Amino acid sequence: MLSVRSRIGLVTRAFSMRSAAACKFRLPEEAKKEFNNPAAKYTTAQDIPEKGTIYDKKPFMIEVKKGKTYMWCACGRSRKQPLCDGSHRNPFLRIKQRPVKFVADEDKEVWFCMCKQTDHRPFCDGSHQHPDVQAAVRGH
Ligand code: FES
Repeated sequence: MLSVRSRIGLVTRAFSMRSAAACKFRLPEEAKKEFNNPAAKYTTAQDIPEKGTIYDKKPFMIEVKKGKTYMWCACGRSRKQPLCDGSHRNPFLRIKQRPVKFVADEDKEVWFCMCKQTDHRPFCDGSHQHPDVQAAVRGH
């Protein structure tokens, strides 16, 4: 398993490549293996193209437990970030995103995206470092 510092380094380097090449961001293969969501093959919420409201400008680490299910907030409106509290169901907000189910395959530290702009839901992919995200005002 990669150390937290190594994982953040991978994400940071990948983000630098994204800025330099001005092309679609891709996580390095080793980071993709590290940030794996076994539940993704049974759900579609992670594929909804619309991004949520920016909640924070840095990721949040949770020590997940093997076999436990986590529902990551994709809309950015939850008050229990980075996890869903059901706020996306508010009919007046007309939110298109749904929470992304994550089932931990082992006990480990997982960095969840808090800016809601990641392309690798529910994990941080470095998107929070983009100047537009850093300049944004918090969603609520
Ligand atoms: S509150 Fe954001 S996805 Fe449920």
